[in-house]
Amino acid sequence: MKWTASKLKALKGETKISMVTAYDALTAALIDDAGIPAILVGDSLGMTVLGYETTLPVSMNEMVHHTAAVSRGTQNALVIADMPFMSYQPSVEMALENAGRFLKEAHADAVKIEGGAIRAELIESLVANGIPVLGHIGLTPQSIKEMGGYRVQGKTSEQARQLMDDAMAIEQAGAFALVLECVPAELGEMISKALTIPTIGIGAGGGCDGQVLVFTDLLGISGKPVPKFVKHYAHLHGQIIEALNGYKSEVESGTFPADENTY
Ligand code: KIV
Repeated sequence: MKWTASKLKALKGETKISMVTAYDALTAALIDDAGIPAILVGDSLGMTVLGYETTLPVSMNEMVHHTAAVSRGTQNALVIADMPFMSYQPSVEMALENAGRFLKEAHADAVKIEGGAIRAELIESLVANGIPVLGHIGLTPQSIKEMGGYRVQGKTSEQARQLMDDAMAIEQAGAFALVLECVPAELGEMISKALTIPTIGIGAGGGCDGQVLVFTDLLGISGKPVPKFVKHYAHLHGQIIEALNGYKSEVESGTFPADENTY
């Protein structure tokens, strides 16, 4: 069954939603085969696979290229493309054009946009033009320079109220779901209970309607330190290095290729 934004939205209160990031067709096919209903082509690809320090340098062309690969590898999951920094902030017109590219050129099913009430008008326009939108509030990595670091958001009652207002504005504007990143679990649960659309948490506690994790974090591929909210479901870094070392030493000793690998 092909997932759509409205089918995902209808899971609220029925089943918790799992979402994983992917950046290429190989990874997308694995996630799809596992029956995960939603794939996010996050601009986290800047750090996870492109070697940038932040998400800020990621361009539209890079995102379209990777989203198209993910779409080619996906049969059933909903493919959500993350709109990169400055692809939607300057104007509604620019946002419509760029979001349109994700659907037309990269065959995405939806787009994700960072920001609260300030994005309400933009979300309304995208949805009115047939583009499903996933909101994203709390820690929004595209605002890292303004936020001053990757920190938990909404810790004071004033910030928490602001995030609740933002969440309501995004729901009212027509988003089909909302990512809540790095907020206290209590606030994650309060926002989830107040909304009729599903919340997808990352570092926002178990009270959210779903969870999203970065593929390389989930599988322990990078071998680098990860935030507290990450759980490694495998430790592939060590296994990959071991496999590569095994290959190198067999090449050096001449045991690879063996007779069975030879024509
Ligand atoms: O870019 C990304 O991968 C994200 C998720 C972590 C929510 O925005």
